[in-house]
Amino acid sequence: MNILVTGGSGYIGSHTTLLLLKEGHDVTVLDHFQKDKTEQLDAIKDEVGEFEIISAELKNLKDIKSKLKRKKFDAVIHFAAYIEVGISTKEPVKFIQNNVVGSQNLFSVLLENGTKNIVFSSSAAVYGTPDSVPIKEDAPIKTENPYAYTKYIIEEILRCYSEFYGVNALALRYFNPSGSYNGVLGERHQPETHLIPRLLHSLIAGDFEMQIFGTDYDTPDGTTVRDYIHVLDLAEAHVKSIEYLEQNNGFDVFNVGTGKGASIREVIDTIEKVTGKKLKYSESGRREGDSARLVADTAKINKLMGWKSKYLLEDILESAWKWEQKRPISDYN
Ligand code: UFG
Repeated sequence: MNILVTGGSGYIGSHTTLLLLKEGHDVTVLDHFQKDKTEQLDAIKDEVGEFEIISAELKNLKDIKSKLKRKKFDAVIHFAAYIEVGISTKEPVKFIQNNVVGSQNLFSVLLENGTKNIVFSSSAAVYGTPDSVPIKEDAPIKTENPYAYTKYIIEEILRCYSEFYGVNALALRYFNPSGSYNGVLGERHQPETHLIPRLLHSLIAGDFEMQIFGTDYDTPDGTTVRDYIHVLDLAEAHVKSIEYLEQNNGFDVFNVGTGKGASIREVIDTIEKVTGKKLKYSESGRREGDSARLVADTAKINKLMGWKSKYLLEDILESAWKWEQKRPISDYN
């Protein structure tokens, strides 16, 4: 298939692009190349060869109109977005402008060009603090920060496009993506706020102060529980989604997780096992806005798409460790 991937140089976008190319799809990456460097795309080229790259700003309707002129795709996977929850609470306007306006610009151009199948990168953040776990797709929406609002608003825009323009769209609500493609591709968030890369980085940078935010949660060991999903499993879910859209019309949402939770202490134990190194960290107060447990109910995607996660926490951490050892230390400054 002929597929457009927006944000293809980012973390999940690059892994999905690689998998699509490996499976023989014809991929075009659209990216603004501001935050993410082109190294991820160069690494993909080294693995599988050349593919088309378009440099464009989704916020700029004129720009994407001209860059995508007369281009029609069998499907689009839309990743490009600002993702830092903390920054979103300080700069909601920037997030709405980039994520919501950028997405609407993209969707309107796709519609004009006759592209009808869209897979959207949403987030479990739309569930906020859930009433219970595991979380099903019909759980109440609780958008507790501007980032989560933007993800939910974009889902609803797609629902509208589906109802009134006959667009077929899926929103994938990711839980906690982690790991890497064999240390070749990986995550490079700046600032890096995520637990797993920070724990691994603390093994490399002796003076890095690692803190565990909260040990008094209502969980078996007092630390928060998350559903960590291997980025390669997530990439595979996107490929399945495109196939699903070929057979199914309308709009739908799917959780993408493993269905299993791991506490911070379990992550720490597994890192020590996988790396053979002892972690140093201190325990501090809770981080504002964190839920005790976020675990996906994956029955819907398992049943309707026949997709199930394959990788274990050990696999995630082993691959993340390979990547972290190559990652520039400047990401943490
Ligand atoms: N944590 C620490 N120390 C750190 C970093 C994180 O203890 O140095 C804790 C956090 O407080 C949290 C847990 O580790 O309890 C996991 O934190 P992450 O930042 O790795 O992941 P989150 O669950 O907070 O974030 C994920 C996604 C977001 C999404 C959010 C809401 O990465 O994009 O879930 O569902 F918005």
